Amino acid sequence: MNCPYASTLSGTAGAPLARSLEEVFPSVVTNRYRSIEDPTKVREILRRAEDFTPANALHAAVELAPATLRILARGSFALPPVLASASGPEHLAVRRVVAGFFSPAKVAAQGRFITQRTGQLCRQLREDLDSGGQLDLAIELAAVIPPEVMARMTGAPVPPVEKLKSWSRDSLELFWGWPDVHRQQKLARSAVEYHAWLRATVAETIARDDGNLYAALHKAGVDVKRIVSLAYFLGIAGQETTSMLIQSALFSALHDRDWADCGDPATGESASARVVQRVLLEASSVPTWRRIAQFDTELGDERFAAGDELVLRLSGGPLAESGDDSLVFGYGLHRCLGAALARMETETVLRTAAAILPHLKLAESKPSWSHLLSFQAPVAVPTRHAHERTQS
Ligand code: HEM
Repeated sequence: MNCPYASTLSGTAGAPLARSLEEVFPSVVTNRYRSIEDPTKVREILRRAEDFTPANALHAAVELAPATLRILARGSFALPPVLASASGPEHLAVRRVVAGFFSPAKVAAQGRFITQRTGQLCRQLREDLDSGGQLDLAIELAAVIPPEVMARMTGAPVPPVEKLKSWSRDSLELFWGWPDVHRQQKLARSAVEYHAWLRATVAETIARDDGNLYAALHKAGVDVKRIVSLAYFLGIAGQETTSMLIQSALFSALHDRDWADCGDPATGESASARVVQRVLLEASSVPTWRRIAQFDTELGDERFAAGDELVLRLSGGPLAESGDDSLVFGYGLHRCLGAALARMETETVLRTAAAILPHLKLAESKPSWSHLLSFQAPVAVPTRHAHERTQS
């Protein structure tokens, strides 16, 4: 018998990291990290950037095996601290350069492209759906738009979409997951390949010197190894997390019957903003982020020893209950530089897809979600045409 409440559960209800972090993470993670769930403490930790630094932002979530480290070292894989993992004046100098590429005016200027490109993709998809096909919007839509937007905004090339997808998935799992020793080695080989591609691309892109992001960083005195490290982070932060957010929003709108309102010209803007806000609050694609205590210190009644590793809740749990979205893109000196772009991009894709594919329905109402230490999304968004049966 079906659960009588199943249809009333929200589409974000299955998000694994909406539940208590200690319950969801495996012991290899909970033994290493202290989970901080209280929003007031999280905000204070993010505010005290000298006491709690982001130096562990790009560390592997669990200890990597010596064989894995050898593969990375042989492949010249290195992620020196920069931007998200750096602190002090060096962080600020790089942040200033990167921020210029994601200014409000530059974000707004992408709106038309996102609408047109989503429209083009959806019209192609409509033909497949009309002939009774089933499509995964995670692959057909959510994976495609963010890298194209990123390439336009930074002036730096991105790999072909399938390659980028497998490289970023593998790197996410290697650094934010808990793979066993054998899997680590496979993931490390993929990370080495991605890193080598980035090294070659960064060198070529700097040489082009046409106002692109890497050339701007180079001119600002950032060394090439750090530019590669930044490119690696942006590939994940700017593309994969946005793809995951789009995936979650598409799934949520279809599941919670917001699709028609999102596609209606009169209500589309407000309905899609509402869906994206709900997803960010309850089931963001980046529901946690890390910090490490730099010194022995205290926060209210809690003591921290230098070297304590923390995982901070940014979405879900008490934040969802109180409707507080002030932490969802981080807070303070390191607040996400792509926050406005990620929101606008997700709302635009949702609104445009719902307008062009009004008869879409989920082919499965309860997808499984995948999650790592700091990321989560439905594994797929399988859809089909609502009229499939009547047409065939
Ligand atoms: C649209 C593409 C995106 C771009 C270009 C982008 C860019 C960035 C950058 C450059 C940083 C580092 C800032 C710094 O350390 O000073 C950052 C941090 C972060 N971003 Fe994004 N991001 C994007 C999408 C997203 C999405 C979709 C989410 C979540 C839903 C997200 C959540 C975060 C978080 C939690 C941090 C860490 C903040 C901290 O350390 O306090 N980002 N992002």
